[in-house]
Amino acid sequence: MTENTIQTVKISRIINDCEAVKTIIFKKIGPKPIPGQFVMIWVPGVDEVPMSISACDEAGNWAITVKNVGECTQALHDLMVNDYIGVRGPLGNHFIIPSDKNKIIFLVGGGIGMAPLRFLANQLKKSGYTFKTIQGAKVESDLLYMDEFYEYDQEDLEFHVCTNDGSHGEEGLATETFEKLIKSYSQDDLKNTVVYSCGPEIMLYKLFQICKKKKIEFYASLERIMRCGSGLCGLCTLDPLGLLVCKDGPIFSSEELKKIEDFGKFQRDFSGKKIPLE
Ligand SMILES: Cc1cc2nc3c(=O)[nH]c(=O)nc-3n(C[C@H](O)[C@H](O)[C@H](O)COP(=O)(O)OP(=O)(O)OC[C@H]3O[C@@H](n4cnc5c(N)ncnc54)[C@H](O)[C@@H]3O)c2cc1C
Ligand code: FES
Repeated sequence: MTENTIQTVKISRIINDCEAVKTIIFKKIGPKPIPGQFVMIWVPGVDEVPMSISACDEAGNWAITVKNVGECTQALHDLMVNDYIGVRGPLGNHFIIPSDKNKIIFLVGGGIGMAPLRFLANQLKKSGYTFKTIQGAKVESDLLYMDEFYEYDQEDLEFHVCTNDGSHGEEGLATETFEKLIKSYSQDDLKNTVVYSCGPEIMLYKLFQICKKKKIEFYASLERIMRCGSGLCGLCTLDPLGLLVCKDGPIFSSEELKKIEDFGKFQRDFSGKKIPLE
């Protein structure tokens, strides 16, 4: 069985995370995922869509966290425990965890972008790393995994929250909180910092610019509409290098992002036509 084989799995648990977001848990055999990787989830009779892996435990229980935005995600939200879905994966590349445990590590997530960062946080914690997380959301009701991250905060793994309307945490954007936190950093601190991010591309682009200016190591997980999820259809191509989000990504480093002209500017619609990012 390869990563690309569809495995039919039974849903074992469903968690209602927040408004319009549910976490779906299932047992899957085969290669273990690494934080940053994704799966293609097939809902019979509806569609197949990419979803980040938001957790995986030693017993082989995998989790995806689904925001209801359209036809297939609605169908996923309608499913119940003991229903079946098809899963292909783990697919794509993954976050590279530094070998140096003294690195200053930031996880910066916006909205549903917290899903792969939650899996990364679990792994970093298990491996004894220290890290700081910034979660940004439009409003309080969009915030995810709050109990888990506040528990980390109690254990000196800083957790910062910001909302656009100030309904929880600081009023403002995740990028502003990040800028405030690194304001007092020395050149050595900046050199020793790494940022892992996922969320709206406008946020990722702003973070990329801040990190470029400050010479901070930076990784972003990008989203594009996908059909095959395995490098065949070309729908997730990034110009001008032709990098594929499903194969070469979804995680891209600053070095790669610098060369991707589409980053922060263009996406493709379902026909492959280039359209401005929303
Ligand atoms: C690598 C990767 C990881 C992802 N991880 C998650 C995750 O952990 N949780 C989650 O809820 N969503 C995630 N997404 C986005 C998710 O795949 C889309 O929301 C989903 O495909 C929408 O399907 P739909 O049929 O419900 O919506 P549709 O009815 O097809 O479309 C509804 C809206 O969503 C947009 N859309 C459709 N597909 C995508 C896509 N692939 N990326 C961005 N926007 C899209 C459409 O342009 C449209 O505006 C991820 C996408 C990628 C590429
Ligand atoms: S989704 Fe088909 S090549 Fe990436």
